[in-house]
Amino acid sequence: MSTTFTLDTSTSRANPTPAPMRRLTVPRIRARKVDGVTEEPIVVLTAYTARQAQLLDAHCDLLLVGDSLGQVIYGLPSSVPVTLEMMAAHGAAVVRGSYHSAVIVDMPFGSYEQSPAQAFASASRLMKESGCAGVKLEGGAAMAETVEFLVSRGIPVMGHVGLTPQAVNVLGGYGPRGRSEAEASKILSDAQALCRAGAFAIVVEGVIEPIAIAVTRAVACPTIGIGASAQCDGQVLVTDDMLGMFERVPRFVKRYGAIAEDISAAAAQYAAEVRSRAFPGPDQTYQPE
Ligand code: KIV
Repeated sequence: MSTTFTLDTSTSRANPTPAPMRRLTVPRIRARKVDGVTEEPIVVLTAYTARQAQLLDAHCDLLLVGDSLGQVIYGLPSSVPVTLEMMAAHGAAVVRGSYHSAVIVDMPFGSYEQSPAQAFASASRLMKESGCAGVKLEGGAAMAETVEFLVSRGIPVMGHVGLTPQAVNVLGGYGPRGRSEAEASKILSDAQALCRAGAFAIVVEGVIEPIAIAVTRAVACPTIGIGASAQCDGQVLVTDDMLGMFERVPRFVKRYGAIAEDISAAAAQYAAEVRSRAFPGPDQTYQPE
């Protein structure tokens, strides 16, 4: 018999465990697109914390631990400074908070571009430390060899074409892509190269709608649009953007909540009650038996 005692964490905020569900797998998500048609669009949201994952999980097919956490969580100016350590820690939190969605973790800038071997070392570390089902990386044809290397060694990969935020310093900003013929045909050939290399899905971000539709028709694997088209095989948004956490969001974001106002109003009421000594009241204080 073990002599170590077990801490009772059943009342912890971290464990409002629902009845375990069967988690969606990458092959099942890939298989949603059959002969170019996806009957049921794939629902994706970003998640960075365990609690956020708990709340989103039942509604999504896939939770993306995006490197957008650089701006959203850490207040960084772009995703460029995000590290593998950050992605592994947030990835693990999201896996702990979810039971149903497949969890995919973004590979941060600088962790995969140098060589397929570097990408394998980084991706396998993310999978071991977080328990995620696969990784996402940015870039098109230039990354095809790396995608093939990872997939053939057991690492599911999601691609990302069009507006690729890690390349903001080359692109010069976050404007939509695909307006010129050269840009449009590069986005198309990038997506085709990733799909041929074995990507199970491809994020198509910030491209003009006809190109998003053309890409979706041209590749066998599902496309996940953001600032793209409702005709993509699925959609993703940054959760904090769609919840109304930020004043400034890209044009393609639809706000489904007003969480910033709710937080401000709650903080203002709390501050007023502390200052007037209305809080804590009888319900929040312990008295002698
Ligand atoms: O980092 C991120 O959140 C993303 C999605 C917006 C696709 O890459």
